[in-house]
Amino acid sequence: MKIYFVGAGPGDPDLITVKGKRLLEEADLVIFAGSLVNPKLLQGLKAELMDSNGLSLEATTAKIIDALTLGKKVVRLHSGDPSLYGAILEQMRPLEEAGVEVDVVPGVSSIFAASAALKTQLTLKGISESLIITRPAGTTLEKDELTALSRHGTTLAIFLGVDKIRDIVDSLDRPRDTPVAVIYHASWPDQEVLLGTVQDIAQKVEAAGINRSALILVGNVVKRTGFRRSHLYRDR
Ligand SMILES: C[S@@+](CC[C@H](N)C(=O)[O-])C[C@H]1O[C@@H](n2cnc3c(N)ncnc32)[C@H](O)[C@@H]1O
Repeated sequence: MKIYFVGAGPGDPDLITVKGKRLLEEADLVIFAGSLVNPKLLQGLKAELMDSNGLSLEATTAKIIDALTLGKKVVRLHSGDPSLYGAILEQMRPLEEAGVEVDVVPGVSSIFAASAALKTQLTLKGISESLIITRPAGTTLEKDELTALSRHGTTLAIFLGVDKIRDIVDSLDRPRDTPVAVIYHASWPDQEVLLGTVQDIAQKVEAAGINRSALILVGNVVKRTGFRRSHLYRDR
């Protein structure tokens, strides 16, 4: 018995991997994680479709084991890449305990769709050689490390937090003119990119009415200027 945890990509249905798409087409049961999986990815599949939203872990596990016992092929579809804020291990554990083998198929994370939307790099010579991925405190996280992490001065990618944009920028220990981008629904047809600074991005986000499904990128990579040439393309 084997289940596949598959990354659906950031939204554009063409941004799933070839392997992920093949598994979806072969599946008899696809359990998908709600609003961030583009319904177009599910259109025309022969599989039974189940939205995991509102389902308990126990109910989902039981459904998967029932299907696998009947010899069905099961795919658990997660937005972006399953390894980022996907909570897959807690789903795998009871399945593995029941003797189910698991396989993970990576996906294009929204962080990469966001950087593509900005036509920039997340690491950029002379600007930032590192990338910090994090999230703010909220209902499922008591305390965050935004202030301490922001002090590194590297590119900062903040998931799951656009509804708290004002608290987030207030907690960053960065100059007020540090560039910030908010990318809503990266790679979807209604993608929106807001550019600002630590000083003014919250006001722009509130004015645009964006309060979910967006990524916050902080740092000079957002500006696409001031970088140094790499040695990759030098004359030899
Ligand atoms: C539960 S996390 C899942 C992240 C996902 N595993 C990934 O790799 O993109 C959901 C958060 O990811 C970000 N997100 C997911 N899809 C997005 C998209 N298309 N554009 C911008 N942000 C997105 C948002 O911050 C959202 O609140």
